Amino acid sequence: MSKKLISCLVLGVFVLAAGLAGCGGQKPAEPAKATVLKVGSDTAFAPFEFQDEKSKEFIGFDMDLIKAIAKQMGSTVEVQSMNFDGLIPALEAGNIDATISAMTITDERAQKVNFSKPYYKSGLTIVVRSGDNAIKGFKDLEGKRIAVQIGTTGSEEAKKVKDAQVREFNTAPEAFMELKAGGVDAVINDKPVNDYYIKEAGGKDAKQVGEPLTSEDYGIATAKKNTELNEKINKALDELKKNGEYDKIYEKWFGTKPAQ
Ligand code: ARG
Repeated sequence: MSKKLISCLVLGVFVLAAGLAGCGGQKPAEPAKATVLKVGSDTAFAPFEFQDEKSKEFIGFDMDLIKAIAKQMGSTVEVQSMNFDGLIPALEAGNIDATISAMTITDERAQKVNFSKPYYKSGLTIVVRSGDNAIKGFKDLEGKRIAVQIGTTGSEEAKKVKDAQVREFNTAPEAFMELKAGGVDAVINDKPVNDYYIKEAGGKDAKQVGEPLTSEDYGIATAKKNTELNEKINKALDELKKNGEYDKIYEKWFGTKPAQ
């Protein structure tokens, strides 16, 4: 063996030993890697989840809330945009960890997924064109054409109307567009989203009629087997309610303090 090779080998052993020593107990503490919470949402439901035109980021009440919840848990959020009716299947398949999508807690859904504690009080209302004076409430919908978002509580409600022709759309904005175009007589959808549409998102020629048809609670859904995540989310939610962060986010999007 040449001298050069030997010294190389010796050096090599030293480097290796030094490296191994570095792997020992007193390695400088690296910050724990933040876990990523994969969250599914149908991001066309302002003001809960929608895309900022400029930044292309997903924004809204739900988006701020889930980010705050994840932060409490030491995680960051990765939002996956998908159709509303694909959210529960995606949870069941393990493609996402959680959904936040203005999703109403229902018994039927609760058989398939776990829901967090309620985080927002909502309900359904009827939207019609401003010039329509015939539809004043649920009874007047009989025999009418109603647009809804597929897989929603609004769709369930519309199907209860006698002789109505219910047309299902992939997203709520598409249902509103159909109302504007005259293809349907009414939309049944969540009140805060209807409020926002009429005030902020091009629905000046639409109005809401009648009393809210339902009272509903939104919840964050997780897979049935992942009870640990559900507990963590509930704990974080409690914390955000205690420390005032929840109220801040609520006021940012709704302009008022949450009703007690
Ligand atoms: N709250 C209604 C439901 O759970 C509608 C939710 C629709 N959400 C959405 N992001 N498009 O059925």
